[in-house]
Amino acid sequence: MIGLFERLARPFLHALDPEDAHSLTIKMLACAPLPRAAGDDKRLAVRAFGLNFPNPIGMAAGFDKNGEVPDALLRLGFGFVETGTVTPLPQRGNPRPRVFRLNADRGVINRLGFNSQGAEAVLRRLAARANAGGIVGINIGANKDAADRVADYVRLIERFAPIASYVTINISSPNTPGLRNLQQAEALDDLLARVIDARERVTRQAGPTPLLLKIAPDLSLAELDDAVGVARARRVDGMIVGNTTLTRPASLREMKIAKEAGGLSGRPLLPLATRMLAETYVRVESAFPLIGVGGIDSGTAALGKVRAGASLIQLYSALVFRGLGLVAEIKSALLSALERDSLDSLSELVGADAAAVTAEAWPG
Ligand SMILES: Cc1cc2nc3c(=O)[nH]c(=O)nc-3n(C[C@H](O)[C@H](O)[C@H](O)COP(=O)(O)O)c2cc1C
Repeated sequence: MIGLFERLARPFLHALDPEDAHSLTIKMLACAPLPRAAGDDKRLAVRAFGLNFPNPIGMAAGFDKNGEVPDALLRLGFGFVETGTVTPLPQRGNPRPRVFRLNADRGVINRLGFNSQGAEAVLRRLAARANAGGIVGINIGANKDAADRVADYVRLIERFAPIASYVTINISSPNTPGLRNLQQAEALDDLLARVIDARERVTRQAGPTPLLLKIAPDLSLAELDDAVGVARARRVDGMIVGNTTLTRPASLREMKIAKEAGGLSGRPLLPLATRMLAETYVRVESAFPLIGVGGIDSGTAALGKVRAGASLIQLYSALVFRGLGLVAEIKSALLSALERDSLDSLSELVGADAAAVTAEAWPG
């Protein structure tokens, strides 16, 4: 039913400004009586960060920034949902237009700049569904004008750690000037020390809330060495690789739109994001699991992420072009891969190709 509805709605949504289409999609998800997706094959289950995921496919941050539709997304078959990025205080983000489709490339450029309804509104919604079950993480970021950005992260950990399944520290958005500097070794060490301290203070009865770090795919390998070193030393629970890229691959066809400022996502990001995932995997040495995100638009791309080192995956941009049917398609591709190799679980494939991927020529 949702497939038919989507097929009818997609041409209409694509005729709208991307941001208006997105707002309408959120409204539809919030009101439509959605059928529950079929239960997941138990071979797709993943245990990571102390949580039991029914399947490895997550909705990436940025789709449900304000926590309006996590349960609709879980019903539609996602194994987990990452809400946010949320900032402590409400803020509008950059002036519109600020989201652009690269249709011929199946890509998106955005420079939203953390438009957020703010912590209180999101907290109220997540608290209202706290007993609904399902894995709903929260992605947190600093307000643009914060005098002390680290203090913003600390404040958000204190508020959200007690109710979120996990918290992602987002220091990799390219659209808040200077934010990515928090990925540098010394700044990152200070940030992690303070947020982990905050997490310990608000630890739930159920145990500490997992803390994940989301990085940019644009780090140099020396910067990645440092970021992984600090993340391991400070014992984060996992990393997400990665956010949108400021690079513009030579293969892009939508030359004019490609000149828009902002982070590029979708299919053109796949080679770089998968390479950075594999580079991260070999440096992490199984100290914690990774979430692979960037350019997944097919079962093959999803399997490639797992083989490059992802225990879990997330996607966003491909939904604009492929619709929600992609989630079921990826599940069946992953199951076929397991059957082909007579395996019982995806964990046996995680990182199988990481060394080979890191030996390839750098994606251009
Ligand atoms: C319109 C848009 C908004 C996004 N907003 C956020 C955000 O608020 N926080 C964040 O961590 N990532 C955000 N992202 C990045 C995605 O979570 C993801 O890392 C990136 O898009 C790569 O995945 P994809 O190629 O499957 O889209 C956003 C992406 C898009 C396209």
